[in-house]
Amino acid sequence: MKTDAQAVFAYHQRSKHLPNAYAKGPASLDWDDQPNPFRRFQGCAEIPLPTPGAEPHCRFADLDQPQNIAAQDLNLHSIGLMLELAFGLSAWKQFGPDRWALRCNPSSGNLHPTEAYLLCLNAELLPPGLYHYYSLNHCLQQRCVYQPAVVSDEIYIALSSVHWRESWKYGERAFRYCQHDSGHALAALSYAAACLGWRVELLDEVADQDLARWLGLDREADFIAREPETPELICRIQVGALPSESGVVFNRAELPTQAQWFGQAQILSPFHIYRWPIIDEMVLHTAKALTHKTRQTLAVGALPPLANPINAGALIRQRRSAQQFDAHAPALPLSHFRRILSALQPSAKPPFTAWNRPARVHLALFVHRVQDLKPGLYFMPRDSAGVERFKNAFCADFLWQETDLGLPLYYLLEGSYTQAAKNLSCHQNIAGDSSFSLGMLCEFADTVNAAPWQYRHLFWECGLLGQILYLEAEAAAVRGTGIGCFFDDLMHGVLGLHDQHWQSLYHFTVGPPLQDQRLQTLPAYQHLSDKP
Ligand SMILES: Cc1cc2nc3c(=O)[nH]c(=O)nc-3n(C[C@H](O)[C@H](O)[C@H](O)COP(=O)(O)O)c2cc1C
Repeated sequence: MKTDAQAVFAYHQRSKHLPNAYAKGPASLDWDDQPNPFRRFQGCAEIPLPTPGAEPHCRFADLDQPQNIAAQDLNLHSIGLMLELAFGLSAWKQFGPDRWALRCNPSSGNLHPTEAYLLCLNAELLPPGLYHYYSLNHCLQQRCVYQPAVVSDEIYIALSSVHWRESWKYGERAFRYCQHDSGHALAALSYAAACLGWRVELLDEVADQDLARWLGLDREADFIAREPETPELICRIQVGALPSESGVVFNRAELPTQAQWFGQAQILSPFHIYRWPIIDEMVLHTAKALTHKTRQTLAVGALPPLANPINAGALIRQRRSAQQFDAHAPALPLSHFRRILSALQPSAKPPFTAWNRPARVHLALFVHRVQDLKPGLYFMPRDSAGVERFKNAFCADFLWQETDLGLPLYYLLEGSYTQAAKNLSCHQNIAGDSSFSLGMLCEFADTVNAAPWQYRHLFWECGLLGQILYLEAEAAAVRGTGIGCFFDDLMHGVLGLHDQHWQSLYHFTVGPPLQDQRLQTLPAYQHLSDKP
């Protein structure tokens, strides 16, 4: 019998892509079986949220000092805006007869395994209970009401994953992508809340089983058997001067006994031809138990100021993944590169204010085209523990030259890595045609050995950094793309790593995009106003 940690190491190993053997996935894609990216519960009340599209009253640059943004009142208008900026639609794309929605939060393959719930205990807003956010129609679906009411001023947002959405296309590696997406979604929520002067507090003590009970995810009869939803995380939304301690303890015993549940999850896909039981096993091996509360105090960072005056909502809504980059465009200004990297260092701003854990993810960068910076391989640790441990683990001939950017950025080797980056990223040109791309190197074996559920948190931290890169790229008038498809051990080989002590869990690329002129862009919520 494997321990949980052994099972996680084994899964991680078998879900690696190798140049001659990709992780196990479907032999062919049955497009008729593509899961519906929008979960809807049938048989429950739907509460429309105020018309989407409102602008928050702050610039993206203001989010560097979130404490200066005036807290908006808690009402359905402001809650709706937060949900929209975090998980709502940002546009539709059309190519010939095909039309698909994009959202403010990105997702591997645009499959969107992440579901969002609002737990509202404030009877002045809504009958206290649990509400599912149905982003397609920008409304709340009433899943549960508590009787007698559990009264508090507070609201909470919880996230869950429907792994099937992702495994339909990506097979066994999908469990990783669902975790990346959760990290992106948590960061998206943190930015969205900050636009309203609010703050997200991740309740990292809560056990998964308890969260499943609170979200009704353990109510098997409400879900199609092969389309379960797995709890990920829950956050308290701190509005202005709310008490600093969360008012609700999310354990099973505290769930109101007289909760009344409504609705059944609609079927997502008809056939389920392929099965990926290893993912169900990973849900069990990485299930989080109740732990002690940890809350970090973050230092106020001194980020290089952003000159871009764009409204925060406009920037969040314009975020897209670049599908191609212009390798012939001018190099990225050094000031922009410095700002983007600075934003990845923990400081008292979103999304770090929603992240209670020490930095365990560090960056190996391929600099391709950045003004006044030699192309080559660079490394940036994201904690203050120094670089000796990396020097001892990495290739012995790396230079470890300090750069003078005011960042812990070290120059390791000179040379063009454009081709290497493409090859490492499953031969995707986006990794080499950009200004720079990077691998997120995680403190892997020790973290998983200490608590196997932290496997998921490592990916969340990567997703969090990915969301920063997406938004900072937009602010620098370029664009980013997350890269989940890469050859894990080739990347480790570039750094001279041979064991599981350090593992690269996510890649990312940033640069000037090329637009696909064949695609038509349509407004996000036109379909709501077109309704009779
Ligand atoms: C975890 C993750 C992994 C991704 N991996 C890739 C990738 O390997 N290659 C790629 O071209 N795009 C990748 N993407 C980008 C998605 O395809 C993109 O987010 C999705 O199509 C939605 O489009 P949008 O980001 O413009 O909203 C990834 C995105 C995420 C969040």
